[in-house]
Amino acid sequence: MRERAIKEGATKERAMKLRVPEHIQRIAPYVPGKPIEELEREYGIRDSIKLASNENPLGPSPGAVAAIQKAVANLHRYPDGGGYVLVRRLGQHLNVRPDQIVLGNGSDDIISMLSRVFLGPGDEVMMPKSAFLMYEIMAHCDGGACVHVPLKELGIDLAAMAERLTPETQIIFLTHPNNPTGAPLYREEFEAFLDRVPRDVIVVVDEAYIEFLRAENCVNGLDYIDGEKPVVVLRTFSKAYGLAGLRIGYGVMPARVAEVLNRIRQPFNTSLLAQAGAAAALDDVEFLEKTVRLVHEGLDYLHEKLSRLGLKSYPSQANFLMFRSPMPADDLFEAMLRKGVIVRSMRSYGFLDHIRVNVGLPEENRRFIRTLEEILR
Ligand SMILES: Cc1ncc(COP(=O)(O)O)c(C=O)c1O
Repeated sequence: MRERAIKEGATKERAMKLRVPEHIQRIAPYVPGKPIEELEREYGIRDSIKLASNENPLGPSPGAVAAIQKAVANLHRYPDGGGYVLVRRLGQHLNVRPDQIVLGNGSDDIISMLSRVFLGPGDEVMMPKSAFLMYEIMAHCDGGACVHVPLKELGIDLAAMAERLTPETQIIFLTHPNNPTGAPLYREEFEAFLDRVPRDVIVVVDEAYIEFLRAENCVNGLDYIDGEKPVVVLRTFSKAYGLAGLRIGYGVMPARVAEVLNRIRQPFNTSLLAQAGAAAALDDVEFLEKTVRLVHEGLDYLHEKLSRLGLKSYPSQANFLMFRSPMPADDLFEAMLRKGVIVRSMRSYGFLDHIRVNVGLPEENRRFIRTLEEILR
């Protein structure tokens, strides 16, 4: 009976009449880096390494893992929807008030909440081109129109963005350091930009990679959340804290903005395990320091080796770097994949001949360079 229903299902589904709104039909789904197991199956490879999703090569914070193991005993309970303990711990850590923090199921969730709250049909969302793809997807979900402002020397062109402001501009997304180029935002330019932004435009500073920043005179988004402009800072436990699979991030913002986001936030959007793990990760200072050291050493190594191969890589303040490929990016990606090294072609970001690679363990970085050498030969 059930088998017959499954067989007939495909035909019936085709006959189904779904009214998908026009703006949703236009969305191209986000294509995440495939899980390592799937790629190994698909390509018949083994012992591959993944340097494609800017994850932490050291694994998760051990402090977080211990706290999660302890919290498992309470899984029959709903989590604390407001994340009382974590929010207060974050408040202390960042020196902000608890009512300025909104927790999310990854910082993606905060991007989604901002779009849902502030965007209606015809509203404009401004972002650099290229930028993290979720900004555009979320904007389209909520009927917003995207305004893309080209990068300047691979950095965000704040002066050009200020020129493109219109009465319809509702949200501006800035990534600091930027993904995929790794360029930071500098304080002076950002402040000049903020001066030109009207008081009713949300300025999002996405600091997913802020822990890796080394350059001086750069923005710290938290310095701007107490001003007249609605600045929202996004941060995540997915990168430096090694908790991408746990799904937890947060936004720091004026309390008035937090209050409206909380109205539409799913009541239990962050799990009990995520809250426990994140709070413990903040205390695991040793792990954070080890991660940052590893990333800085890895970046220096990769820059040096790529340059010796005659490949231009861009200075990066994040845990990844982008370099120019001597062949179409998709071809190099494919060739590396066949040898078990998974990187990211930047074609979907509009860089047809660029590859992004994140810093791995030292032996993974060496294998990446060795594989690249073999292919180029
Ligand atoms: C710039 C940027 N923002 C946000 C995110 C999403 O992070 P999360 O895992 O917290 O949703 C990423 C993840 O790759 C990112 O690169």
